[in-house]
Amino acid sequence: MKKSKKFFLETYGCQMNFSDSEIITSVLTRQGYDQTTDPGQADIVFINTCSIRENAEERVRKRLQYFKSLKKRNPALMIGLLGCMADRTKTALGNDEQLLDLVAGPDSYRDLPFLIEQAISGQKAIHTILSADETYADITPVRLDLNGVTAFISIMRGCENYCSYCVVPFTRGRERSRDAGSIVAETHDLFNQGYREVTLLGQNVNSYQWMSPGGKVDFANLLEQVAGVDPLMRIRFATSHPKDIPDALLHVIAKHDNICKSIHLPAQSGSNHILKLMNRNYTREQYMDRIRAIRDIIPGCSVSTDIITGFCDETEEDHQQTLSLMEWAKYDFAYMFKYSERPRTQAAETMKDNIAEPVKKRRLNEIIDLQQKLSFESNKRDLGKIFTTLIEGESKRSKWHHFGRNSQNKVIVFPKTEAGPGNYINARVVNFTSATLLGEIATA
Ligand code: 5AD
Ligand code: SF4
Repeated sequence: MKKSKKFFLETYGCQMNFSDSEIITSVLTRQGYDQTTDPGQADIVFINTCSIRENAEERVRKRLQYFKSLKKRNPALMIGLLGCMADRTKTALGNDEQLLDLVAGPDSYRDLPFLIEQAISGQKAIHTILSADETYADITPVRLDLNGVTAFISIMRGCENYCSYCVVPFTRGRERSRDAGSIVAETHDLFNQGYREVTLLGQNVNSYQWMSPGGKVDFANLLEQVAGVDPLMRIRFATSHPKDIPDALLHVIAKHDNICKSIHLPAQSGSNHILKLMNRNYTREQYMDRIRAIRDIIPGCSVSTDIITGFCDETEEDHQQTLSLMEWAKYDFAYMFKYSERPRTQAAETMKDNIAEPVKKRRLNEIIDLQQKLSFESNKRDLGKIFTTLIEGESKRSKWHHFGRNSQNKVIVFPKTEAGPGNYINARVVNFTSATLLGEIATA
């Protein structure tokens, strides 16, 4: 009998990429390939890549050096590059591009078995063309996060917002939504397998749209359908664009206990001057209006953000505007980045990356320090409160503790009880750091 080939798969970047790796694993295992967690044992190593910032690509380049050393020891080893860097391997990798036996972009994963055969036959296999309709709706992902409690469901792909700094429209292509029925069915299956939380993923989930035989399904309709699967199944979603997060959607979130009270609403900047250059399609005032609506319609909802600092032409005044917006919004959590120029974007082609590195660094530090303070204050406000918490697993720091999340997406660590992962407990917050809440089991 022929020994089946083993593949090793490593993932960089956003949740969407991790979700894609579950599709990739499904496609490969269905074809009889075995997955290994040891690249030294693999016949093929795959690296699912990210292009969002220069340092994401740098990490991939470093990792390829390691795979290069494996290939020296085992010349039969094949190396495949997948994901967002696929379209630009020549410019991004220089000479190391020659190491690759296979290259496949985000819409080409169905073809992987064929591409592997082609690579085995000695031809370099490349497929990077983006599709207008691929959503992998019919492929059941192989869950790679083994907690058995939380899972991602990708509901749309691509992005057409063309924020001037962002490479995603070029790496992931046209925006397309996935069949609503297949999303609800996948949620049902996960529930039956014991999962208790799904995160609906897309670059811009608010613009989800599907024509079903029963009529048009928008994101608010989809959320209601998914929330209807079971009251014990929690629903999260990411990412929302501030330009279209209507009150109707907020009312749906407020109405269902199992839709988590946590909204990730990237501001990117607090300055109208910069928001315009970024092509974000909203003003600071419109953004603030949406935060007010969230606070009014969904009391107790947490709000998180993404901030880019040091974008083209950003002045000290613009930077102060970002800090003041953060302070005003009282974000519970934020992802914060220095601007990194990406090829092909509007900013790269028409603007100057003219903020000196030390200035970017200093501004980023100020933003991080402020967020640290805001997160600390946010957690302090939770002291004494009782939260329904979904247990995800054992605390990384102590085998006597479990950890879970509340609806607001905050991590709570608490002493173990008989209830294991997948169950809900009530935890009273008794202590906190800026990153974590410490709880005890609340009996009343
Ligand atoms: N430079 C820095 N940060 C970026 N992001 C997207 N593109 C860039 C870039 N060129 C950030 C944005 C986005 C998050 C996923 O990554 O904040 O919301
Ligand atoms: Fe995800 Fe964007 Fe990175 Fe691609 S470039 S992996 S879409 S974050």
